[in-house]
Amino acid sequence: MTEPVLPPIGMLAELTHRCPLQCAYCSNPVELLKANREMDTQGWISLFEQAADLGVLQVHLSGGEPTLRTDLAELIASLARRGVYTNLITAGVGIAEGRIEAFAEAGLDHVQLSFQGAFAATTEKIGNSRGAHEKKLDTARRIRKAGLPLTINAPIHRHNMEEVPDFIELALSLDAERLEIANVQYAGWALLNRKALMPEREAVERQVEIVEEAQERLRGIMTIDFVTPDYFAVYPKPCMGGWARDAFMVAPDGTVLPCHAAGTIKSLSFERFGEWDLSRIWHESSAFNAFRGTDWMQEPCRSCERQEIDWGGCRCQAMAIAGDAAATDPACIKSPLHARMGALIKEAINTMASDEASDAFTYRRIGRVAEPIA
Ligand code: FES
Repeated sequence: MTEPVLPPIGMLAELTHRCPLQCAYCSNPVELLKANREMDTQGWISLFEQAADLGVLQVHLSGGEPTLRTDLAELIASLARRGVYTNLITAGVGIAEGRIEAFAEAGLDHVQLSFQGAFAATTEKIGNSRGAHEKKLDTARRIRKAGLPLTINAPIHRHNMEEVPDFIELALSLDAERLEIANVQYAGWALLNRKALMPEREAVERQVEIVEEAQERLRGIMTIDFVTPDYFAVYPKPCMGGWARDAFMVAPDGTVLPCHAAGTIKSLSFERFGEWDLSRIWHESSAFNAFRGTDWMQEPCRSCERQEIDWGGCRCQAMAIAGDAAATDPACIKSPLHARMGALIKEAINTMASDEASDAFTYRRIGRVAEPIA
């Protein structure tokens, strides 16, 4: 039976694709938008107004690097006026004096600060930016001084997985209330760099043990969230909490998408805010309705008892690996293509062992157009 469409709760606003770092695992699309394609201040404010009217309770302000928007404090204030919870997702590099305080004054609720490594050399190598680590440490201190709660986000892959214990120490030393150990999801630039980023199975298993021990030890002191690596999973994650169920994202030019990689599903077309209002997009967009609920599911999802737990997993991963966005996510052990995940891990590790150059990243940058390979 087709269920009624409930209002969304969360929104990820990618205010810009500009960024001072060039991380090879970035979830932004490979074809990045230049500054002249970004929606202007008034456009974002009216989008936020409509989001609040629609029922959105929390907005994640992201990018690229959202603090490169000179109007960020104004955008935060427009959400705070409507009582919407705001979370700033930042790389924490190059934020001018006084701005963090201005964000706090505008009503910002929370900051999530990413570290590419627990040590300067790793952060600089992965982000391809000299001095980035020191700047992030300074940003973390300024965030806490401004009285804002802090989450440290550590995107994990082969090149920094051994630093997980050090990430835990780092987050504690920065007075973070939460640490996210987030294994990289292979979409966007991460898919393009999959061979260079794929960890070995033994390292993943060690990491799980370390995180579980720390979660127990630090209970009541610091929360540690753990995002498991899909390729090593038994069941898939309910990506975005299920397609068009309670969250959506907006690209810098105002295109409204069910998730950050939806553009890789070429059979879908997306509406831009301004041409359609947000409520119409949420309820009527063919892209949002394509995989909403369970009616679209094929076997094995169709008869699976977990269909309303996993919601079929990730549509974009199904597209990338199965070549069919309506297939069960191959991360699921019940998928006929599950073995392909294991083969991709082996292929990455073997290439890495036989060819040192495979360890090199294709760094993220605007203007580079390359198609990710499945
Ligand atoms: Fe698109 Fe998972 S990234 S559904």
